[in-house]
Amino acid sequence: MALQIIVGAQWGDEGKGRMVDWLASQSDYVARFNGGDNAGHTVTIGSQIYKLHLLPSGIIHPNTIGMLGNGMVINPKSLLEEMDLLRAAGVTITSERLRISHAAHLITPAHQALDKAMEAARGKDNLGTTGRGIGPAYTDKASRSGLRVGDMLAPNFIDRLRSHIEKANHSLGLYGAPTLEIAPLLTVFESQCKILTPYIRDVSAELHQALASGKIVLAEGAQGTLLDIDHGSYPFVTSSATTAPGVLTGLGLGLDAAQNARVIGVAKAFQTRVGSGPFPSELSGELAGRLRGTGSNPWDEFGTTTGRPRRVGWLDGVLLRYAARINGLTELVMTKLDILSGFESLRICTAYRIGDMTLAELPFGQADLGSVEPVYIELPGWQADLGNIRRWDDLPVQAQGYLRTVTRLGGVPVRYASVGPEREQIVEVPALER
Ligand code: IMP
Repeated sequence: MALQIIVGAQWGDEGKGRMVDWLASQSDYVARFNGGDNAGHTVTIGSQIYKLHLLPSGIIHPNTIGMLGNGMVINPKSLLEEMDLLRAAGVTITSERLRISHAAHLITPAHQALDKAMEAARGKDNLGTTGRGIGPAYTDKASRSGLRVGDMLAPNFIDRLRSHIEKANHSLGLYGAPTLEIAPLLTVFESQCKILTPYIRDVSAELHQALASGKIVLAEGAQGTLLDIDHGSYPFVTSSATTAPGVLTGLGLGLDAAQNARVIGVAKAFQTRVGSGPFPSELSGELAGRLRGTGSNPWDEFGTTTGRPRRVGWLDGVLLRYAARINGLTELVMTKLDILSGFESLRICTAYRIGDMTLAELPFGQADLGSVEPVYIELPGWQADLGNIRRWDDLPVQAQGYLRTVTRLGGVPVRYASVGPEREQIVEVPALER
């Protein structure tokens, strides 16, 4: 069995793309198992930078086959746009190279309109969703009224689509939001479905077969552990399973596929979050500005999908330990270590305080997480620019110390640290004591 899993260990945007890029070059299949076009993965092809939202980013490697699993929600319009974007960049996208699970759910313009109307209705208590229709599409899935990719093949599909939009119009009316004109939507959707028909497959069966014959399957997580519908900071989460166990249900694999799986958690050297919700180690002011950047570089802390400035803070060791446990991480990759250069001293949150209680684990209930006070340890900073460093021995001792502390606090070994946005700006970390 050769299943490799990459998941975000924080609130998304951890820089999973670069690890995917690296491992995809040695993989036969690259698969997305959760979410939809709410994700934003930055991919570099030659000198060009592309923002992918739906396709597995490993598909840019010519020897991979891309899979969109049943755990996903797929907006056909976004998917076709992305397929065209990659074709224009010289990537071959044919039904030989891309498969879409018949059991994935569809996102329609009605889901997007509902997402926006529901957010507006929440007012100041909004969740800060990406507005892509993710929540309403998964709601329809759970309430067993959703439209699946395989339904596009049925002769009554357009009738079902019409009644779905009629129903959504009714709800939009209740929210006081504008309703959708049905006929043009049906025409556009029908033509999009026709183009996608050849890509519809039994992804579960094909991946099972692939693993049985010794192929390497790379599962690309979208978002991060703390946005998981069950294990994240509910209700400020997305609507899917973003964690490693979600790979099995989201691709239709059995527990046997998980045996000896490599489970790589990606975490930034500090903490970020887009949208609303608790963030115990959040910073503001000048320190926050230094971590966030100005937005002039593509790797500064501004959302790939929405362009919103990300909230930033010190690394949270409690959340990291939690992510290691929930995912069963076998290793950790720490990204953006270079951004910490130039600080006199650095902090990592190691516990939470509520009243006179100190907690080493997450309190349950997100309301509790909102009211905790972080307990920090202080570590010496370093001044050197890390961008040109490629060997562990060349890292400043303080940076080595930082990674040792992360390994100890997270209980999982840091195997690599990135020191810049380019492919080769990565340092292999020797086995550190946990
Ligand atoms: P939704 O997934 O659009 O419903 O948004 C729910 C929450 O998840 C919001 O706080 C979003 O900002 C956050 N979110 C969704 N996708 C991503 C992502 O790819 N990176 C970071 N945050 C995300």
